[in-house]
Amino acid sequence: MWRERALIVLVFLFHQIHGEDACPPSSCGKITNISYPFRLKGDPQGCGLTMYELSCENNITLFSLYSGTFHVKAINYHNFTIRLLDPGLQQSNCSSLPRYFFSPSNFTLSYQPIPPYLLYYRPKNTSSYQTIPSIYRYYHTEPLVYEHIVFLNCSHPVTGNPKYVDTGGCLNWEWKGYIYAVAGDLIAEEFEVGCDVKLVAPTSWWGLDTNTYSYAMMHTALLYGFELSWIPLACQGRCAQIYNCYLNSSSQTLQCPDEGRAVQVKCFA
Ligand SMILES: *[C@@H]1O[C@H](CO)[C@@H](O)[C@H](O)[C@H]1NC(C)=O
Ligand SMILES: *[C@@H]1O[C@H](CO)[C@@H](O)[C@H](O)[C@H]1NC(C)=O
Ligand SMILES: *[C@@H]1O[C@H](CO)[C@@H](O)[C@H](O)[C@H]1NC(C)=O
Ligand SMILES: *[C@@H]1O[C@H](CO)[C@@H](O)[C@H](O)[C@H]1NC(C)=O
Ligand SMILES: *[C@@H]1O[C@H](CO)[C@@H](O)[C@H](O)[C@H]1NC(C)=O
Ligand SMILES: *[C@@H]1O[C@H](CO)[C@@H](O)[C@H](O)[C@H]1NC(C)=O
Ligand SMILES: *[C@@H]1O[C@H](CO)[C@@H](O)[C@H](O)[C@H]1NC(C)=O
Ligand SMILES: *[C@@H]1O[C@H](CO)[C@@H](O)[C@H](O)[C@H]1NC(C)=O
Repeated sequence: MWRERALIVLVFLFHQIHGEDACPPSSCGKITNISYPFRLKGDPQGCGLTMYELSCENNITLFSLYSGTFHVKAINYHNFTIRLLDPGLQQSNCSSLPRYFFSPSNFTLSYQPIPPYLLYYRPKNTSSYQTIPSIYRYYHTEPLVYEHIVFLNCSHPVTGNPKYVDTGGCLNWEWKGYIYAVAGDLIAEEFEVGCDVKLVAPTSWWGLDTNTYSYAMMHTALLYGFELSWIPLACQGRCAQIYNCYLNSSSQTLQCPDEGRAVQVKCFA
């Protein structure tokens, strides 16, 4: 018990020392508040974490994630999210496509057991929790909105499947064939014979929560970007069991289900 408590305190103190470094925030273009856990390339050593290093090119804040380099649209330190945009997408150009193929499976294979980021799914209802990869299922955090847009190239026109949205001349110049976009998951039964998945890209845009989609709407959603969360990092040392730590969206604080312990830990700070 003592050993366990000592460990909790140590982890917590470590978090305090390294958690809120005394560095002034850095700035790049529209992102004016780059602070822990982020750092901007060129910041003094000890500011932020190298794993969360951003860079600045022509006033655009960039972040590398796996093999991609994304534009940073926003960082929110209250709900621990960073919103990223694929660099291939251009405002008011429906022909512009995401540069990167980026599906949920890109996240599941790395950074175990505590990934630096969480990609949240939108549980439309409790049963869809099953689609969350197992390491993420333990985090009882409020779900983030997360969907993806799937681009398909079909050898024939698809009719009578409302999920397949015609890209309306936006993309047909790019790929031969009939190009469709689908928002959200494509379950096996809905998969049309003769169609190939060409591209998958995430979005966190709330407006996709509807029954009718247009390609213009999907493009808007992609331009909004997608949110990732550093809650796994922020939660370190907060609760006796990190997997129980969650973001209370009304109070915008991290909480533990076993508040007794959390209070005990906080007393040492
Ligand atoms: C900048 O970020 C820090 C957290 O790192 C936060 O405490 C502060 O309120 C933010 N400032 C602004 C202007 O957003
Ligand atoms: C970046 O933004 C600053 C301040 O708005 C401006 O002075 C500078 O010229 C910009 N640099 C580039 C490369 O656009
Ligand atoms: C995501 O995974 C796919 C398939 O492994 C890969 O082709 C793609 O480059 C990855 N995306 C990024 C941004 O790393
Ligand atoms: C729109 O995007 C496409 C694909 O990236 C590009 O070829 C085209 O030049 C862009 N149009 C404009 C007006 O920028
Ligand atoms: C939950 O999901 C199931 C399966 O996808 C669906 O049949 C059901 O209508 C959904 N329930 C609600 C309340 O959305
Ligand atoms: C985080 O906060 C930003 C700014 O208020 C908001 O746009 C975004 O939807 C929030 N994300 C989550 C997951 O709550
Ligand atoms: C799209 O499908 C058509 C018809 O099947 C095919 O000719 C074309 O090569 C495909 N394009 C791509 C980029 O896969
Ligand atoms: C979230 O925080 C509010 C205000 O502090 C509190 O009343 C509520 O019980 C909390 N909800 C959960 C699920 O912890």
